[in-house]
Amino acid sequence: MTTIRDKTIWITGASSGIGRALALKLAEQHNFVIASSRGREALAELQRASPQRIRILECDVGDDAGMSAAGARLAEMTDQLDMVIACAGTCEYDDDLKLDTASYRRVFDANFFGVVNTLREALPLLANSRAPIFAATGSLSSVVGMPRAEAYGASKAALGYFLDAVRADCSHLRLHIAHIRPGFIDTPLTERNDFSMPFMLTAEQAAERVERGLARGQHIIDFPRRLSWPLRFFGFFRLLWFRYCAPRITRIHSLRKH
Ligand SMILES: NC(=O)c1ccc[n+]([C@@H]2O[C@H](COP(=O)([O-])OP(=O)(O)OC[C@H]3O[C@@H](n4cnc5c(N)ncnc54)[C@H](OP(=O)(O)O)[C@@H]3O)[C@@H](O)[C@H]2O)c1
Repeated sequence: MTTIRDKTIWITGASSGIGRALALKLAEQHNFVIASSRGREALAELQRASPQRIRILECDVGDDAGMSAAGARLAEMTDQLDMVIACAGTCEYDDDLKLDTASYRRVFDANFFGVVNTLREALPLLANSRAPIFAATGSLSSVVGMPRAEAYGASKAALGYFLDAVRADCSHLRLHIAHIRPGFIDTPLTERNDFSMPFMLTAEQAAERVERGLARGQHIIDFPRRLSWPLRFFGFFRLLWFRYCAPRITRIHSLRKH
């Protein structure tokens, strides 16, 4: 399979960035897409682009009870899901090592518990597909410890472990688990970044790489390679990262200031 066609696909975080580009691309390729996020207006606008192929399911992935209700509405829309792509996510940096747990919880609610909630509601419908796929969007930032990314990177690293554990639990079953780890993508999420973002891709380029990886049956979908290979190298030789690279990019110069 080189392209994904004629599938029923639930995409969270579909109102913007990578999720939106994926929803449009997959709808164009004759898939039936159920698009989720919290923002009704942006979802309605997305649906207008392909009214026959996109349905909207408004939900906050971090809201446990709200997601149970969304799961019930999802089951009214379809009795089967072939694929789920969990793209909903957020980023908050810990600028001065404030260690503000409220911020960490917001990030984990969307990036980690949001995926747990999504899988819980999707599983009964994935079970009705012959070749179900569950994919979730982590980040290359979780490959090595990144300055200021204590909350964001930790939520994505936790997600990686969660996906591995689900894969282990389902290793004798037909559920395919995919971990998508993008580098820098030009979306509203990165618009507020005030540092250089090497090898940045557009959301459409990211959607192409995600689709290609899913169609090929990859378990880990890292891109772009120009960024993932050096990061994986430093993830292996961690000492080099912490001795030579991290000191150049951290903004913390004293333990007393914050
Ligand atoms: N952009 C990058 O460079 C980059 C790199 C690595 C990984 N990623 C990951 O890729 C995913 C998509 O990011 P993006 O860059 O496309 O960001 P984006 O343009 O900001 O889109 C985020 C999407 O998630 C939705 N969302 C956020 N919190 C939600 C919640 N609690 N419940 C439901 N929907 C929620 C947003 O819609 P509403 O606000 O309307 O709910 C929006 O549709 C994220 O998981 C992000 O961490 C991005």
